[in-house]
Amino acid sequence: MVGVFLGWAAAAWSADAYKPSEATLDLYKAKCQQCHMADGNSPLEPLNFVDGKWTHGDKIEDLVKVIGEGVPGTAMLPFKSQLTPEEIVGLAHYVRSFDKTPVKASGGTKTKPAGKASDGKTAKPRKGQ
Ligand code: HEC
Repeated sequence: MVGVFLGWAAAAWSADAYKPSEATLDLYKAKCQQCHMADGNSPLEPLNFVDGKWTHGDKIEDLVKVIGEGVPGTAMLPFKSQLTPEEIVGLAHYVRSFDKTPVKASGGTKTKPAGKASDGKTAKPRKGQ
């Protein structure tokens, strides 16, 4: 059961079969929620984490960068002097998990089915070596 569920979650959200730790939840409440809302669903689009739009990229690395370095000229300040790298990564995963749209296929994750001989020949295991 659990295995099936995890498999499903990983397939649906590849990057985010992720469960935030208590510490991450506390940090979010203390430092992020006042702007980004408890459920990440801010009415202001640049602050919204659920709409599937990521101004600065939707990969964990992109979010880590924004959280660490901020967005100059906006209310999004750099947090790297207040948070450890681990805390920032935890928050990046948490915030990304508000967005339920599947991570866009970035190519290379699904490889072509192997061993399908498209030219009609049966796939031979290997030539004599
Ligand atoms: C004072 C308000 C404020 C606080 C507090 C704040 N943010 Fe932001 N955040 C913003 C604003 C405004 C933006 C949009 C910046 C822009 O225009 O690109 C933003 C953008 C972001 C983005 C990029 C979203 C995207 O679409 O690419 C992430 C990720 C983010 N914040 C995470 C966090 C996290 C995590 C925290 C807590 C550690 C936090 N923010 C705290 C105001 C805030």
